[in-house]
Amino acid sequence: MVTTATRPAAKPTIRQTRLMINNEWVDSSDGGTFDTINPATGDVLAKVAHATPKDVDAAVRVARKALETGPWSRMDAADRGRLMFKLADRIEQEAGELAMLESLNCGKTITDSRGDVEGTVNTLRYYAGWADKIEGKTVPVRGNFLSYTLRQPIGVVGQIIPWNFPLLMLAWKWGPALACGNTIVMKTAEQTPLSAMRVAELAIEVGFPPGVINLLAGYGETTGHAMVVHSDIDKIAFTGHVDTAKLIQKNASPTLKRMTFELGGKSPNVIFADADMDKAVEGAFHAIYFHCGQCCTAGSRLFVERKIQKEFVTRLAARARQRKIGDPLDEKTEQGPQVSQEQMDKILGYVQSGQKSGAKLVVGGERVGSNGFFVAPTIFDDVKDDMDIAKDEIFGPVVSVLPFDSIDEVVDRANNTYYGLAAGVWTQDIDKAHTYAKRVKAGTVWVNCYHVVDTSTPFGGFKMSGQGRENGEAALEHYTESKTVTVKLG
Ligand code: NAI
Ligand code: MG
Repeated sequence: MVTTATRPAAKPTIRQTRLMINNEWVDSSDGGTFDTINPATGDVLAKVAHATPKDVDAAVRVARKALETGPWSRMDAADRGRLMFKLADRIEQEAGELAMLESLNCGKTITDSRGDVEGTVNTLRYYAGWADKIEGKTVPVRGNFLSYTLRQPIGVVGQIIPWNFPLLMLAWKWGPALACGNTIVMKTAEQTPLSAMRVAELAIEVGFPPGVINLLAGYGETTGHAMVVHSDIDKIAFTGHVDTAKLIQKNASPTLKRMTFELGGKSPNVIFADADMDKAVEGAFHAIYFHCGQCCTAGSRLFVERKIQKEFVTRLAARARQRKIGDPLDEKTEQGPQVSQEQMDKILGYVQSGQKSGAKLVVGGERVGSNGFFVAPTIFDDVKDDMDIAKDEIFGPVVSVLPFDSIDEVVDRANNTYYGLAAGVWTQDIDKAHTYAKRVKAGTVWVNCYHVVDTSTPFGGFKMSGQGRENGEAALEHYTESKTVTVKLG
């Protein structure tokens, strides 16, 4: 399973480690810093400025000024779009370096990082195209009036992102916010501040006016919290754990900010006996092990029709044993480290819990090596729905196999969770596929594929997997206020 390959010669340069406020790079107001780590080795990569509540306030003030009176407030929508296109172009030119930086700080394989940079560019271009197409309506009303609606920016938006897709999450949040004319105060995840800093440098370079984009680094409980309670931030967009969202919603309630949440899941991936076996094994493998399982849509509940359970699990386990784990910067590596010691410990804790509750450990279950935070691809078979490993988001390379016998049964069991982000189904029977797609409670359903996320399709969760939608036209609604203007006609 393990082949830790030789280290590549090239290493990305860490150019920025400070806060970007008003297009200037500044130290934290109290000089505080925190370490950012290379998860493949556990070594400290850099000391990064930790934003205080005072820094949050400074960022909000300049964002407010840019929104109300700066050049951004008067800029033609088409020119906003042009700036976004320029930023996408610069990111594309720096793709190689950015991908390496992402792999170094986040631990994702260089292949995956390249995919994320491409997704980042695509997202910014998609929303750049929207900038001058966000239209209101003329509304027929009773009486001699003309009524129309304007769609205007919500204002200063606070964006709090996680560590699993640092660049992509930045793009998903900057894209619609900028297209709609908002100004931004973003906090990166404490584990992965570096790639966003490079993108913020590029944003200054291509000409975003001061105050439009502000980038902070820091911990959630301090920097993030200061954003959540700030009375002059109009909206919080958050991606992370469901419990963090509950806390944010409570802490933000005195200011009644707008909120959008994307909160992960325990997504069911259902394999019917009539599925194309080769494709289904590969699909189930990718569904759980993509980016070490650190994916909000991870297909972590694998429902397999009982008559093919044995063969399916045998083949999946054989595939898992082949996985090349190692340095994420090595081209041959298929799986890098988990992002942190904390995440690795959480995952290994769930492995113990699975064993204790009586699930059958087929493969994996252990740390790989003693440097960095590597965990072997893990399969539990004969898992019961009420075990913690079948209920909680593990966010690691651990899949629970749950046998089933009929479509009605599997739909009920798939829906028996407070999550509802994504769902997969593998079958050659269109009736089963569409019945499942209609009845499963999830924001995204994949039929004979998995993790296919495009910038132009809405993405988000049913139930406690989220509020609102990102990507596609749907996101624009969450970055605009609607204003009705009524004119008395003579
Ligand atoms: P988290 O929810 O604590 O962190 C996500 C972001 O929220 C980070 O930027 C963090 O600094 C910030 N944050 C944390 N507490 C905050 C607070 N009180 N106020 C404002 N901002 C706050 O997630 P964490 O601790 O990194 O990971 C724990 C688990 O969360 C993972 O094991 C996974 O299950 C889940 N998760 C889900 C993600 C998703 O894509 N939906 C992404 C990351 C984590
Ligand atoms: Mg946390």
